[in-house]
Order: sequence, then structure tokens, then C-alpha cells
Amino acid sequence: MADADSRAGRTYAEPAVLAWLEDLHAPHDGALAQAFGASESENLPAIQVGPSEGRALELFLRMSNARRVVEIGTLAGYSTLWMARALPADGHLHTIEVDPLHAAVARRNLEAAGFGDRTTVHVGAALDILPLLEGQGPFDAVFIDADKGCYDRYGAWAAQNLRSGGLLLGDNAFYFGNLLVDSDAARAMRRFHEEAAAAFATVCLPTPDGLLLGIRH
Ligand code: SAH
Ligand code: DHB
Ligand code: MG
Repeated sequence: MADADSRAGRTYAEPAVLAWLEDLHAPHDGALAQAFGASESENLPAIQVGPSEGRALELFLRMSNARRVVEIGTLAGYSTLWMARALPADGHLHTIEVDPLHAAVARRNLEAAGFGDRTTVHVGAALDILPLLEGQGPFDAVFIDADKGCYDRYGAWAAQNLRSGGLLLGDNAFYFGNLLVDSDAARAMRRFHEEAAAAFATVCLPTPDGLLLGIRH
């Protein structure tokens, strides 16, 4: 039965339940385990999406037959790998990473997983790289998961470069609980939501960090 607490995620989403479901629905193969584990083994920040969110990204791309995909914020390539699994043989995923160390780890993980040819890791600031990708669009899906203060500009780029029916995905859409705060980055995140709601059919899924999902009008 749903009440205010269960709808707020405070009743049923217990750690043991989530762990059981994650093992069943979003199990790691060797490549995913390697990429997820890079936070420890390579000393990268542990800020990748969770297994269930990664699996959801894969399924959203499969549902929309996505063939051309852009990701902003690669880290070790964990979310990249989930999404690459959804691509057909002639599909391609461009992922953008500003930190050359993260990009090198991601390239290694993607190649080891057999997705080296279906993915390109671009090293640089997303606002510099995105214009270079425009000639390869329009795209079928854009996943935003980098610096939160630029989400408004990434969202605007996505609105410009997604086909009608294309998917917008944005992690950390709750902005760590600070969405309604009076700061430049929070305002940028609110603008991201507002502009997405205008150009896409949208919902903010209540994953642990909030996942914005939009279908381009
Ligand atoms: N999507 C990844 C996690 C990304 S973490 C996953 O779920 O597995 C965010 C990444 O964005 C970090 O690696 C960080 O270096 C990168 N980043 C931060 N600012 C950026 C920018 N302006 N352009 C591109 N990447 C950026
Ligand atoms: C951070 C970034 C993320 O993309 C995330 O999902 C969690 C944390 C961070 O920069 O702290
Ligand atoms: Mg994130």
C-alpha cells in the first residue's frame, strides 16, 4: 500500500531488498565488475552510477533502438559499458571526459570488454568537444553525468542535436538534495529541468540521485 512514506522511498527500499534485486536484474559480468571496481583499483572517485541505474540506461537505449549516442562524463567507462551493450553492430557511442587519467582507464576498460570499436572516448571539456560531434548527429540519446553547473548548457545542446523521439537522460537530477538552493549551480540544474520539460516529454525518476528522462518532441 502506498502512503506518503512509501512514495518517498522510506518504507520498502531497504538495503537488503535493493541488493537482492540488483544481483538479480543488473548482475555484473567481468567487464562491468572491472569498470565499476576502477574506483578502488585505479583510485578514481566512486561516483559512477549504480548497477540498477546502469541497467536502466541499457534498457532505455534498447527500447528506443538507439544507434548514435553521446555521453558527457565518462569516468572509468562503467555507464559507457552498460549503454554500449544496447548498441547494434553499426551503432556508436561518443563519450566525453575532461580528465585524461579517467579517459585512459575508460579506454582500457572498453577495449578489454570488446567495445573499443563501437565507442570513442574524447578527452576535453564537454563544451569544447560537443560542437565537434554535431556533424555526426542527429543523435538518438544523450546521457549527461558531468559537472552539474553546466547541465543547462548540456541540455540545450541535447535539445538541438537529438532527433525527434530521441532520449535525454540526466543523472544527479536531485542535485544531491540542493536542487532548490540559491546558488548558480542549483539554478543551472533547475534551468536544465525547466528547459527539458519544454522541449521533451519528461519525468524525473526517483533513483537514489534522480534520473531525468525525456523524449524529444
Ligand atoms: N558516467 C560515469 C560517471 C561520471 S563521473 C559512470 O556512471 O560510470 C563525472 C565525470 O565527469 C568525471 O570523470 C569528471 O572528470 C568528468 N567531468 C567533469 N567535468 C567535465 C567537463 N566539463 N567535461 C567533460 N567531463 C567532465
Ligand atoms: C558526483 C558526481 C556524480 O555524477 C555522481 O553521480 C555522484 C557524485 C560528484 O561529483 O561528487
Ligand atoms: Mg552521476
